[in-house]
Amino acid sequence: MKTQLSRRDWFKSTVALSAGFALSSSLVDKLMAAPMGKAEANFQIKGLSGKVRLNSNENPYGPSEKARQGIIQILSEANRYPFTSIEDFKILLAKKEGVTPDHIHVGAGSGDLLCQAGTTFGIEGGRILSCYPTFPLLMSYSQVFNAKWDKVDLNEKLEYNYDALASAIKSDTKLIFICNPNNPTGTLVDSQKVKSFCEEVSKKVPVYADEAYLEFLEPSLQVSMVDLVKKGMNVIVSRTFSKVYGLAGMRIGYLVAKPELIRQISKYGGDFPYSQTAIAAATATLGDEAFMAMVRSKNEVARKVLTDYLDQHKVMYGKSYTNFVFFPAQKDGKTILSKMEERGYLMRIWDYQQKEWCRVSIGTEDEMKGFVKAFADFV
Ligand SMILES: Cc1ncc(COP(=O)(O)O)c(C=O)c1O
Repeated sequence: MKTQLSRRDWFKSTVALSAGFALSSSLVDKLMAAPMGKAEANFQIKGLSGKVRLNSNENPYGPSEKARQGIIQILSEANRYPFTSIEDFKILLAKKEGVTPDHIHVGAGSGDLLCQAGTTFGIEGGRILSCYPTFPLLMSYSQVFNAKWDKVDLNEKLEYNYDALASAIKSDTKLIFICNPNNPTGTLVDSQKVKSFCEEVSKKVPVYADEAYLEFLEPSLQVSMVDLVKKGMNVIVSRTFSKVYGLAGMRIGYLVAKPELIRQISKYGGDFPYSQTAIAAATATLGDEAFMAMVRSKNEVARKVLTDYLDQHKVMYGKSYTNFVFFPAQKDGKTILSKMEERGYLMRIWDYQQKEWCRVSIGTEDEMKGFVKAFADFV
């Protein structure tokens, strides 16, 4: 069994899988990009320039003014390693989450942290359990070490199926990965249900709760599993600045877990992957409620352009609480990808239950109007 990754292997998987789509054939080979379906495996994007990027769930409104100012102000310190800024940032995050700084681990995006956790729980083999489809990075990474990925289907509303997950735990299940709201479906499961699940199963198996899209929910629905961490449970929560905060290009995210788990996972972290600019941007924008409310409200309007189109054409879709929508492909996936690229729009195709599914990220309202028109033209 391969238990050590070279830096090159590490880089290849981390970058390609967290970028999450094929850039060009040579880069695909180099970066081991992870296609989500057969259609993507044989499809090469001809270039990103000038295209409307509805394929990576990016935020078209970020970064916020506060983040921009934070970056500008720190530039004069770009010659210094961020030894103190990272410690200050952890203190800030710990305060926000109501834990001590030894419960926090910062990474170059939450993708970085998913890779570290994938290594931690996959390195000795065994099984990682999740629903499918979901964000696959942790499981893909653990499979590098011959861990098996056990998948259970979503329910008929395309929601994470917690009952099915609970019954699929085996004696050698090392970790359960959950994602709420889930990518690629955008669906949400009631936080009480998720909490009860975590409370129960984490007595036997640690749970990794990916909360990348939590801030897309109305504040009253933003219930994090961090409460369970505070109770000392085996729950690992991951958060990112890439989505609502619009800082995907800065690469910054963090974990909240009990110190013992943080120590275990951070062993597999890179040398010192923090940048002054990313820390400054995240520090400046953390908790910027006005910016987040603006993003949520514009996203909702733009998302409605797509869901209205799907409603009119009686296409079912997962009820999305996020900046992407998941629905069955009306034509073969490869044709959709290439025809939409010709028209200037990038999107994703997933395979699930022997069918192809479209995942379309939500851009601005105008971009979505353009997308729907182009999509309707040929579908
Ligand atoms: C559910 C989920 N988790 C984690 C990530 C990784 O994001 P980042 O590495 O930019 O924090 C993504 C990116 O799309 C995601 O959808």
